[in-house]
Amino acid sequence: PVLVVDFGAQYAQLIARRVREANVYSELVPHSMPVAEMLAKDPKAIILSGGPASVFEPGAPGIDVSLFSAGVPVLGICYGFQVMAYELGGTVDRAAMGEYGKTETTIDRADGILAGSPASQSTWMSHGVAVEKAPEGFEVLAHTQGAPVAAMQDGSRGLYGVQWHPEVRHTPLGQALISTFLHECVGLASDWDAAGIIDDQVRAIRERVGDSQVICGLSGGVDSAVAAALVHRAIGDQLTCVFVDHGLLRKGEAEQVRHDFVAATGIRLIAEDASEDFLSALKGVSEPERKRKIIGEKFIRTFEKAQRQVIEEAGRTGSEVRFLVQGTLYPDVVESGGGDGAANIKSHHNVGGLPKDLKFELIEPLRTLFKDEVRAIGTQLGLPDEIVWRQPFPGPGLGIRIVGEITRERLDVLREADAIVREELTRAGLDRDIWQCPVVLLADVHSVGVQGDERTYGMPIVLRPVSSEDAMTADWSRIPYDVLATISTRITNECRDVNRVVLDVTSKPPATIEWE
Ligand code: XMP
Repeated sequence: PVLVVDFGAQYAQLIARRVREANVYSELVPHSMPVAEMLAKDPKAIILSGGPASVFEPGAPGIDVSLFSAGVPVLGICYGFQVMAYELGGTVDRAAMGEYGKTETTIDRADGILAGSPASQSTWMSHGVAVEKAPEGFEVLAHTQGAPVAAMQDGSRGLYGVQWHPEVRHTPLGQALISTFLHECVGLASDWDAAGIIDDQVRAIRERVGDSQVICGLSGGVDSAVAAALVHRAIGDQLTCVFVDHGLLRKGEAEQVRHDFVAATGIRLIAEDASEDFLSALKGVSEPERKRKIIGEKFIRTFEKAQRQVIEEAGRTGSEVRFLVQGTLYPDVVESGGGDGAANIKSHHNVGGLPKDLKFELIEPLRTLFKDEVRAIGTQLGLPDEIVWRQPFPGPGLGIRIVGEITRERLDVLREADAIVREELTRAGLDRDIWQCPVVLLADVHSVGVQGDERTYGMPIVLRPVSSEDAMTADWSRIPYDVLATISTRITNECRDVNRVVLDVTSKPPATIEWE
């Protein structure tokens, strides 16, 4: 593999993903992994990520200098580049002028990692210290106003570094740089793609599962459907899917999932109606993290309860279910604080919301992937577009879209509003332009309205349409005003107790996509 060494960057996984976009297999490893252990993975190249530290700070994460003479090509990015320069004897200036965001960069030599580059490039920077002088043996390839050495290389040792972030889309020629590094400088072949991921996962799953029984929690979303299809390809009939109706589903969802999924895959499916159980456990709870933890735990309890039926349907009395498949994606892991040193933003039900006494062993074949990669795999596995291109819907469902306590009445109101929004967005042909559009009920907020000559005191509905590539960052979607007008009129006319519709115009960050 190509190893991406994570120095605690927000973008480390993004680097791994850009490497895969160049059709080369990559893995993320923490910077704390000893160099010998990294080398034991027989890496074809190593990329050092950025990170929040400064090389001068006491305790700043470093890397053993032996890495640079191990004969493996290394590309340092931002902090990783500074570490390389510092460890090899270059000069790093702590008083440099910082550069944040879009930065014009002069290319002094369009060679090596910058082969074919124009004389100047727009790059995305985020640094407060700068490399002033490159170490012995390196040639300087680029500079900016604030970074005398913005890119450097020593082709004979296979060492390369850039101050900017080639992995973000805001560096237009960033992907070209990564691809040049991998294919031209290191000479790697393009041999990693959806078909390759499937083959690897199928092999790994077969080996792990043996002849045990496996269940998959199916939510109706893309992720769990693709995970199920992948595991089904590996172990066929040993897999049973369990669809849990937790009472927090959208209108028509249960029927649709059952029908579409079974029709498309032929996988055995058990539906559990656990709405009573979920809703009574959620009674009186309005704090988002508590909701999430309760929902996460209830899912598992429901799967445990479903076990006996799973075994019976599989005709395997006497055995037990050992594995649980989840469609966990990388963003779920990172935002639940699962990345190395990452903060807990919210506990996704299938990660941070899992109970401690989990009896199942987890199979999460998509855990290192992003949504668009998962969609490519789904299509490759033969799933239809209706499943692969469904907009994301969170496992905790409408439960995290009612700000305040969850009650059946409020769920009914929200369910109606949500159905109207989906219908109108589809009618306007906007489904593929929008990543997803959470509809949120602010149940504890009341405002005055006038309807039919009467005073009303009702709740607001929030529309949260967003565009995104992978849900890690998002922007609010510019929906045409007339579509918004139709939605607003319909919601206030058709949804009891709602007298106001508002539009959320915040990007992520600073907000998240869901309100809770
Ligand atoms: P946030 O709100 O964190 O959402 O910006 C990012 C993406 O994740 C979805 N989401 C979840 N999906 N279980 C899920 O399966 C969860 O607990 C959960 N929380 C958020 C959200 O809809 C968006 O697509």
